[in-house]
Amino acid sequence: MEMRIRQETPADFRGTEFLVREAFWNVYAPGCCEHFLLHRMREQPDFPAALSLVAEVNGRLIGHVACMPGRIEGDGGSSHEVLTLGPVAVLPSCQRRGVGAALLTRCREIAAGMSWRAILLCGDPDYYGRRGFEPAEKSGIRDAENRYRDALQICGLYEGALEGLAGRYFEHPVYRVEEAACTAFDRGFPPKERCAGTPSQRRFLEIAKRCRPFAD
Ligand SMILES: CC(C)(COP(=O)(O)OP(=O)(O)OC[C@H]1O[C@@H](n2cnc3c(N)ncnc32)[C@H](O)[C@@H]1OP(=O)(O)O)[C@@H](O)C(=O)NCCC(=O)NCCS
Repeated sequence: MEMRIRQETPADFRGTEFLVREAFWNVYAPGCCEHFLLHRMREQPDFPAALSLVAEVNGRLIGHVACMPGRIEGDGGSSHEVLTLGPVAVLPSCQRRGVGAALLTRCREIAAGMSWRAILLCGDPDYYGRRGFEPAEKSGIRDAENRYRDALQICGLYEGALEGLAGRYFEHPVYRVEEAACTAFDRGFPPKERCAGTPSQRRFLEIAKRCRPFAD
């Protein structure tokens, strides 16, 4: 298939939200909130639109990735601007053909060109470990609650970018999605059945549990 990756435009918004919903539905929880999250992300004044990318084949949207600014409060007292990657989504019928990998690669290239220092994300280490990310713990980076988490991974965007980044990482507040608002937003989409206890939900809970308190 001839795939093109380009910046998302307002004409894509609805289609992108639809594909994000299709990709995430029942994967991490019954239903999903990521399409609403993306909708809210675009409304933020600091949303980096240049990093909101779609993958398309013959004019059909099949994948999407977006980022938000976040920060690391360094142990030495300094604050470091970083990017948070996500959501990243590929239509279920188009998964496992390298679309996700291509979106991550292009997003990293553009972010590096914009002089961002590093990208962090929470996800499956088995997937992102093969896509240029490494455990944030290796760089001494903990979550906002000061815990090392297996799911928290980082990718430096230039030589030595991860040096001196040890500290606590804070995501943009937009990632705290209100469930009631999400449910209301989802009513604007075709009805879909919500399923609990799927294998991917169990795997997610298992990875999310893998965290250790920081002891200095
Ligand atoms: C995760 C996702 C974006 C990957 O896109 P994709 O186009 O299927 O990925 P690629 O084709 O580039 O890579 C496929 C590889 O990743 C693996 N993989 C795919 N999804 C995975 C997952 N959730 N966990 C672990 N491995 C995964 C496949 O086994 C395959 O392995 P291989 O490289 O050894 O062949 C896509 O599966 C998706 O939209 N999933 C639902 C939403 C989601 O989970 N997003 C990420 C949130 S952190």
